[in-house]
Amino acid sequence: MISPVALNGMYVILGASGNTGSIIANSLLLKGEKVRVGGRDAGRLQRFVDKGAEAFTADMSDAAALTNAFTGARAAYLLLPPAKSREDQERESSAIAKAVKESGLRYAVHLSSYGAQVPEGTGPVAGLHSSEQKLNAISGLNVLHLRAAYFMENNLAAIGTIHGMGVFGNALLPDVKLPMIATRDVGDYAVERLLHLDFSSKQTRELLGASATCRSRKLSL
Ligand SMILES: NC(=O)c1ccc[n+]([C@@H]2O[C@H](COP(=O)([O-])OP(=O)(O)OC[C@H]3O[C@@H](n4cnc5c(N)ncnc54)[C@H](OP(=O)(O)O)[C@@H]3O)[C@@H](O)[C@H]2O)c1
Repeated sequence: MISPVALNGMYVILGASGNTGSIIANSLLLKGEKVRVGGRDAGRLQRFVDKGAEAFTADMSDAAALTNAFTGARAAYLLLPPAKSREDQERESSAIAKAVKESGLRYAVHLSSYGAQVPEGTGPVAGLHSSEQKLNAISGLNVLHLRAAYFMENNLAAIGTIHGMGVFGNALLPDVKLPMIATRDVGDYAVERLLHLDFSSKQTRELLGASATCRSRKLSL
């Protein structure tokens, strides 16, 4: 078990090698903060260790390992990995919520999604709705759910089609107006909230990119 004293002032970042987690981990390290980075592969976390971070390897369905990682932390950045199935999402969100509760973590910024206010019928976003609900049920936790829009980086997957066929294609209707945001902007926003911890109880924040109006809401539970 990691000593709570040793972790005092520590930020724990899940998915640190990913799009948003890497931005948050790097920014906090640059600011001289104490950072603990999580993922499944120590090699992918080494670049943060080289900059002064501690690393822990754990699967997000391992509640005991996550409890150990969160114990004594100042705050955590929480996310679910990209969804493989709803069952996986439920297992991972349950483990994360159990670890948050058992570790006594007081502050968390949780990456959710645009549309997570809708319980079902939204594909993987419904798993994020469920994750929000599990975290909202934890008394004493101050949690900010970031309801981020479609990541601009998703479009990079179309590069092959653009090169090979000269067209840009995806599964969206062409006339649907969809807010998009760069993961850099999601990460930067999360860093500010983690540094200031200026949220309380259960809150949501839409992050819809530069051209859209974002709403914040305090949830009444
Ligand atoms: N794409 C979008 O448009 C969009 C929009 C809004 C919200 N979201 C949400 O954003 C989240 C993904 O965030 P992201 O893009 O920042 O992450 P990402 O780039 O997809 O990276 C996922 C991270 O999680 C780690 N990981 C994957 N599976 C794991 C497991 N089983 N146990 C422990 N760690 C695991 C990966 O590291 P290792 O592989 O090294 O373990 C990696 O660091 C998802 O919940 C998604 O629904 C996405």
